[in-house]
Amino acid sequence: MAQSNLDVDRLLRETFVARVEHHRSLGSTNDRARQCAAEGGGELPLLVVADVQTAGRGRGGHRWWTGQGSLAFSLLLDAGQRGSEHRGQSPLVALAAALAVVETLGPLVPAERLGIDWPNDVMAAGGKLAGILVEALGDQRQIVGVGVNTNNSLDEAPPELKQTACTLRDLTAVQHDQTAILVALLGHLEEKLGQLASQPDRIGSRADALCLQHGKILTLRAGNRSVTGCCAGIAADGALLLETPAGRQAFHSGILDQATIR
Ligand code: BTN
Repeated sequence: MAQSNLDVDRLLRETFVARVEHHRSLGSTNDRARQCAAEGGGELPLLVVADVQTAGRGRGGHRWWTGQGSLAFSLLLDAGQRGSEHRGQSPLVALAAALAVVETLGPLVPAERLGIDWPNDVMAAGGKLAGILVEALGDQRQIVGVGVNTNNSLDEAPPELKQTACTLRDLTAVQHDQTAILVALLGHLEEKLGQLASQPDRIGSRADALCLQHGKILTLRAGNRSVTGCCAGIAADGALLLETPAGRQAFHSGILDQATIR
């Protein structure tokens, strides 16, 4: 299996992370970050990055395909360190990470309009380019897991993803420098996490501007409720807004049905 040429020294030199763990193969970087948190100690932010994940996880118990050449990492952060009230439960954290991904990848695919599907997907050319899994620990710490389809190709993807995913390599027909992408992404993420503490509304409004679900009929499962409505975008606090027969409703969490009716 080809090894990635990730430059760990550069990541430490040029980004805000205090420590880096680079694994050739791991079950899930989020699980490893959780394990590190349980073991305590150590300076944060910790970056856990893996060339291959054998059990990558997505929201709602979904699996995440980490194709050969893709980028998979998790950051273990202390929200208190940044003075942020926005912990892992807030949809704004995943949206901040999604914005960082859009700002990083946008210049690499100038022909495509990148957008966001609430709460955690980055979309390009009608397919999912990146996904984000934020998990709150019981204290102020949180894990921000990011999977980006960078140098992997849909040629090797499981059949069920061929219609719904997309990759940077397939869109651009070139290989990209993973270290450069990760350095840029961590830079944008640091900025967005700072904004979460100082001007959280800006994260919500920028996410709303990039939200691709405006005007679509969506069905959201929230607890044991299922609500269908027309998407009115994303609120300043990161909630999904649905116009329903009972009026406009805001949802801070929930799982969207995959089938979206236009
Ligand atoms: C989703 O689409 O629902 C979120 C996908 C998140 C995938 C990333 S890959 C790195 C990190 N480790 C995991 O197991 N999941 C996240």
